[in-house]
Amino acid sequence: MRFLIRLLGALWLATLLVSAGFAWYEVHAEQTRLIDDLHRRAALAADAVREACERLVARGSRTGYERVLSRFGRQDRAIAIYDAFGSVIEASPEVKRSLGPVSPLVGEAIQKNQPVRAFATVNGRTRLVHVVPLQQDDNAIGAAAVFLDAEYLEASEWDLWQRTAVRIGVLMLLLTGITWIIVRWSVTRPMARIAEWTKQLKSGQPLAPPPEADVSLFGPLATEVTGLARTLNRARLAAAEEARLRLVGESLWTEERLKQFVEIRFGERPIYVVSNREPVSHVQEGRTISELRPASGLVTALEPIMLACGGTWVAHGSGGADRVVGERIGLPSDDPAYTLRRVWLTEQEEAGYYYGFANEGLWPLCHIVHERPQFRADDWEYYRAVNGRFAATLLEEMEKAESPIVLAQDYHFALLPQLVKQSRPDARVALFWHIPWPNFEAFGICPWQEEILLGMLGADLIGFHTQYHCNNFLETVERTIEGRVDWESFTVVRGQHRTWVRPLPISVAPDDAEPLPDRAALRAELGVTTEWMGIGVERVDYTKGLPERIRALHRFFERWPEYRGRVTFVQIASLSRSRIPRYRALQDEVREAVRAINEAFGERGWLPIVYRERHHDHSEIRRFYRAADFCMVTSLHDGMNLVAKEYVASQSDDEGSLILSRFTGASRELRDAWVVNPYDVEDVAGAIHDVLTIDEDERRSRMRRLRAHVREHNIYGWAGLLVSELAHIPQPTTLQRG
Ligand code: F6P
Repeated sequence: MRFLIRLLGALWLATLLVSAGFAWYEVHAEQTRLIDDLHRRAALAADAVREACERLVARGSRTGYERVLSRFGRQDRAIAIYDAFGSVIEASPEVKRSLGPVSPLVGEAIQKNQPVRAFATVNGRTRLVHVVPLQQDDNAIGAAAVFLDAEYLEASEWDLWQRTAVRIGVLMLLLTGITWIIVRWSVTRPMARIAEWTKQLKSGQPLAPPPEADVSLFGPLATEVTGLARTLNRARLAAAEEARLRLVGESLWTEERLKQFVEIRFGERPIYVVSNREPVSHVQEGRTISELRPASGLVTALEPIMLACGGTWVAHGSGGADRVVGERIGLPSDDPAYTLRRVWLTEQEEAGYYYGFANEGLWPLCHIVHERPQFRADDWEYYRAVNGRFAATLLEEMEKAESPIVLAQDYHFALLPQLVKQSRPDARVALFWHIPWPNFEAFGICPWQEEILLGMLGADLIGFHTQYHCNNFLETVERTIEGRVDWESFTVVRGQHRTWVRPLPISVAPDDAEPLPDRAALRAELGVTTEWMGIGVERVDYTKGLPERIRALHRFFERWPEYRGRVTFVQIASLSRSRIPRYRALQDEVREAVRAINEAFGERGWLPIVYRERHHDHSEIRRFYRAADFCMVTSLHDGMNLVAKEYVASQSDDEGSLILSRFTGASRELRDAWVVNPYDVEDVAGAIHDVLTIDEDERRSRMRRLRAHVREHNIYGWAGLLVSELAHIPQPTTLQRG
């Protein structure tokens, strides 16, 4: 109510000031106009009287003055004629008896021999008195005065002020009414709803903000409250889950447990993640800037850790609108838990370091998919320079941190551990290699193999997904550089420095998002009407075996034609690294293969493959996972493959089946999947047939075991293991230079 009164008071004052100002101006202009008109009329009448009187004087007749009075005098215009001494000769009856106040004016006109005018009250009325001298041979011989009634001037001014007062009154009434209605509808009511909504949020119900609330007015408030409620809710769920696990005696890794574990192991020591891909990029469409979460297993895995432990994530700012949003931002934007520090790269740096050396050199070098690596000296120089840039940014970020923990990610940063460790021996540096490590002969074709290994060995800990990749790495080290490989402890010793090499199979967070509708409802929502649905989710990359998968589907529909029209395979494809010609060629190849199979088997209202080539956010993909009866992961070589684990995690009803390439790291763990050789079309086609025909109980129990495995070996467990390995490393050791 006080707010309303203050608002109305301000509005009233403004209305009053503006209206009174304008009214004053209007009155002033009108008065000036009326007075000018009066002056003009008085002057005209006085001139006419003067002429007539001067003629009479010239003729020596002074008797005609009465005629002059009756000719020029009117009800609102009186005339008076004076002699040379200012004495009245003749005057209209309206003024005759009260000419006293006018005498000084008459005297002045005769004395100055000039017209004189002024307002005066004559006979009780305000009049304009205009006096002209009567002349003979340019000498004043008397005067004539014209009296014009000016009473109406005051009346008209008063009238204007009255109208203004009424106008202001009506305006204030209207303003009061309108303001009251607007405040009630746009502020008071929505505020009450928002208060009600906040109350519901507090009780843990995840509701959207009330729809009638004006977004520009309440948007920031709603965002803040939602963030606050989410934090509260997360904390509540985490506490409940902890309590439940304690009760059933389970020792599962959770977000909360990881947080506590990191605190116990490392106390206040801050965590720094370095990766090429940023967890969130910003893109601009028209005037709107939105957040985009990349299609990246690395981000899927690391974000939950940053949410749990906080810290700083250093990454390449690659989004089109990143610079607009900022170099250092808090994430998630609605409820920041950690800081993203962006590193800006020039186009040439990105071309040489990311597209060139990392993705045309190291990527095919480490994946055995018969793709020839390209090694160019220029690319290597950019790779070195960019590793230096990231290291410098990281060192700047860690400047005030004591004994920081650095988690460097992937093949983009082979040189960074050494650069960091040389400047900050007190830091604990781990490097996690998300892709496979080839055997030493394959790796040996890289012209800069020694520099790469020395750079990596700057780390205290190097992690791979599998023991097999650890073995390959140690063998490569043993055969390439000087240094001692201790196969007992799985470490490499160079001078004073020791690097631990460990298999750390990465994973995903347990799927505890809100429950989804059942498969049939979801499928209807997604527009899939067949009895069965399969799903594939990939970046379009030649390591993912997409053409091979399509060939297998082709073979399946060929071998078992009774399934035509009854199975739909949805392929979600996100374009990746498109500046590299090999990737563009693959995109065309996949589109062509989809077109061919759809043309070969498609019927009215049914296509074997629904190809969705665009970015899908995580919640969308989750709906596809849950709607699908089976998921196909047919990578030709893959460090781990988190799509397989995400699919399994989302099968809360145990209904789905997983077809999984034996060349993925995931196949070492997910033994209950249908493990296939993606190069063997018959094998994969047979697996599709199997998952559609398998006995329901067996299918469910396989998925149950798969889910239990992913739940028990989740991303918090991975991070816990990494932290515990890092923590077990004795006092950081000095790095040998060179
Ligand atoms: O597998 C290696 C990796 O870096 C993953 O972490 C990630 O899923 C993928 O490659 C993303 O590639 P990019 O960042 O080049 O799009």
